[in-house]
Parts: sequence; structure tokens; C-alpha cells
Amino acid sequence: MKVLIVNGSPRKEGNCSKLIAEAVGVFQKEGIETEVFEIGSKAIRGCAVCGYCAEHGKCAFNDGVNELAASFETADGFLVVSPVYYASANGSVISLLDRMFYSCHADKRMKVGAAFAVARRAGTVATFDELNKYFTIHQMPIASGRYWNNGFGGAKGEIAADEEGLQNARIVARNMIFLMRSIALGKEKYGLPEAEKAARTSFVR
Ligand SMILES: Cc1cc2nc3c(=O)[nH]c(=O)nc-3n(C[C@H](O)[C@H](O)[C@H](O)COP(=O)(O)O)c2cc1C
Repeated sequence: MKVLIVNGSPRKEGNCSKLIAEAVGVFQKEGIETEVFEIGSKAIRGCAVCGYCAEHGKCAFNDGVNELAASFETADGFLVVSPVYYASANGSVISLLDRMFYSCHADKRMKVGAAFAVARRAGTVATFDELNKYFTIHQMPIASGRYWNNGFGGAKGEIAADEEGLQNARIVARNMIFLMRSIALGKEKYGLPEAEKAARTSFVR
């Protein structure tokens, strides 16, 4: 069983990294494989709407998105941790997720999603909502925690003082594991829900 984790921060050893380490500790203890995709200083561009992915099932631009998609295909859980920039996930996270979800044609159903927003002071709830929307449009169940998943810290490492945020990271990791295991059993017993061919009703009249 594998959890793919996105660290959306460009800062090495920043607050997102510390929160991720807390979750990874839980995954490791439970024998769950983890893979951390570090955005770091990668230049991740926005979607060009070029249509390449519709034909090829992958993005035309090789700046990390296709690498992430390949790992996503085999992951049972997907944890996204983003720093808050102007009350939103940062631009690289949005570009990465827009293009990964749009271009990757793998079956995403029942992969367990979870997101954390890390900020100095404000904007975490808006960011949490924003990130969860990638999961809820793809039939991905969400593992929740004891708050709307956030962590607080401004300068590097300050999140160490946010015991509630770090505890919630551990709780969410445990809930992800429980859901992933339950879904694996459910898939074995009942199979995935029946899939329908997508109906697309654009609101153009
Ligand atoms: C461009 C930019 C915008 C930011 N906007 C916000 C914000 O809207 N709200 C907030 O509380 N913190 C904001 N911050 C602070 C970061 O969210 C905070 O330092 C966080 O801990 C960064 O995580 P990291 O250490 O993993 O990079 C901003 C930081 C930057 C660089």
C-alpha cells in the first residue's frame, strides 16, 4: 500500500516538510510505503489547453507532472500539503494539480485524498476547501481529521510549536490508512462501483 505525498513548498525543511514528517512517521509505523514529491524550485507551468493529453494520456510538458501522474497511478492514497500564499494554495501546487488531474487518465476512483494548508496566520480554510475540490470531482473519498486540516508557522520550523496541527497530521494519516485498508477489502469483496460513460452537459444554450 502506498501514499503519494506532495510537498508544495519551495522551502527546504520548511513548515510543510515538518508537517509531512509527522504524517510519514505514522505511515512508516504502519508499514505503508510513502513517496514524497517535492515541488521545491521546479518551474511548473499552468495548463496550455493544447489538447495533447486527450490523445496521449499525459501532459505535453515534462516538468514533473508526468512523473507525479505515474506515481499517482499506483498510489492508494494522495496527501497534498501546500503553503498558503494569498489565502490560496501556492501557484506551483495549483498548476501541478490542474495538469496532473486533467492529463492523467488513470482510474482515480477510491484513491483516498487528504490535504493540509500551512500558513503564518490566515487563509488555511479557503486553501483546504480549494485542495479538496480536486478529490471530490474525481470520486476520491477524503480522510478528514479533527479540524479543517491546517498547520501554523511563519518562519521555518515555527510549526513545531503548533502541537494541535501536528497532532492532526498524525490523526489524518491514521484515518487515511484506515480508509485505504477498508477500501482494499471492499474492492476485494464487492469490486469498484459500476462506472458510467461520462455525460457532459455544458451550460451553453
Ligand atoms: C508569497 C507568499 C504569500 C503568503 N501568503 C500568506 C497568507 O495569505 N496567509 C498566511 O497566513 N501566510 C502567508 N504566507 C506565509 C506562509 O504561508 C508561511 O510562511 C508558511 O509557513 C510557509 O510554509 P513553508 O515553510 O513550508 O514554505 C505567505 C508566504 C509567501 C511567500
